[in-house]
Amino acid sequence: MNEQNRVYVFDTTLRDGEQVPGCQLTTPEKIEIAKELEALGVDVIEAGFPISSPGDFQSVVEISKVVREPVICALTRANTKDIDAAAEALRFAKRARIHTGIGASDIHIRYKFNSTREEILQRAVDAVKYARRFVDDVEFYAEDAGRADVEYLARMIEAVIAAGATVVNIPDTNGYCLPEQYAAKIRYLKEHVPNIDRAIISVHCHDDLGLATANSIAGLQAGARQVECTINGVGERAGNTSMEEVVMILKTHQQTLGLYTQIQTKKFYNISNMVSRMMRMPVQPNKAIVGRNAFAHSSGIHQDGVLKHRENYEIINPEDVGIPSNAIILTARSGRHALKHRLERLGYQIDKLNLDEVYQRFLELADRKKEVDDQDLQWLMGHHVDEHFQ
Ligand code: KIV
Ligand code: ZN
Repeated sequence: MNEQNRVYVFDTTLRDGEQVPGCQLTTPEKIEIAKELEALGVDVIEAGFPISSPGDFQSVVEISKVVREPVICALTRANTKDIDAAAEALRFAKRARIHTGIGASDIHIRYKFNSTREEILQRAVDAVKYARRFVDDVEFYAEDAGRADVEYLARMIEAVIAAGATVVNIPDTNGYCLPEQYAAKIRYLKEHVPNIDRAIISVHCHDDLGLATANSIAGLQAGARQVECTINGVGERAGNTSMEEVVMILKTHQQTLGLYTQIQTKKFYNISNMVSRMMRMPVQPNKAIVGRNAFAHSSGIHQDGVLKHRENYEIINPEDVGIPSNAIILTARSGRHALKHRLERLGYQIDKLNLDEVYQRFLELADRKKEVDDQDLQWLMGHHVDEHFQ
């Protein structure tokens, strides 16, 4: 596969993801997740924001010691104290990256920094130059780039690349953009920043309007080659881009998009459960890819279709994301085909006449119970056998 079409996966579950109220992780939990992320095949793990607390600092140190394959990244603001802390926390990393940056939108420049465009540009350049004293790999984030003036953003990106940034992150911090607007921003940078080919463009989207995944894909189509994301889409407010969604979109539409990652997708379900359990944050049942209902079929028409051929109602093989099989949920909307199939799995061979009768009983039960499980079916069949064969 062409290296130019490779999308680098930057996981920020342990940094942006962990900012969710009530979801804080201990250092041992972070290490366990980081090891799973390594096995999953992510390219970069953002392990924390070292200046923010001694615990976060220590997590970056410990992860750097035990996770050797992916790049280990630490976040900073654009100041020397933050960068010193990040460099110190990353001292054991085999491959270290400092992720520094500053607000790029006029709203941030005015109301967050009470500053001017020129001053902020200088701080951005100084931060990158300072970070380069410690590591060769420096990523720069232009916070709130989604709402920033694109000409100013282009000047900022050109200046930080000249200062030594190897990756330039264009965050839609507030989940504001439409996919086409976000893609246009990335295209503009590709076309107007003369030194852009010296850096990788990264997309970092938030889900405030439910567009994080769509925006990330649009940004990749426009030329970005790194995607920042979290497991289960955990993150501030409505969350970050969900890794499993982006990766499975790239895989499902590989012919059209021509992009690929090195993620071992069969590990998704396992790590999704792990993150959900450790963060005490349940995954919504209808969550794409890893939700409980993502491969569950409950209407009679769909059950019949999927039993005839899986691809009638499934665009992804559940095994590809680590789910052993799809699920046929027996409810009052189920048809005879689904009932017969489940009874056969339980060891009952049943002819048409008997099936009609059992099906009527099944519907009565399903109306009362909502979902009929294997135990209910055993009970139903027990009754049927008693009545007819004893
Ligand atoms: O959303 C954002 O802008 C961020 C940056 C700190 C990278 O998380
Ligand atoms: Zn973010």
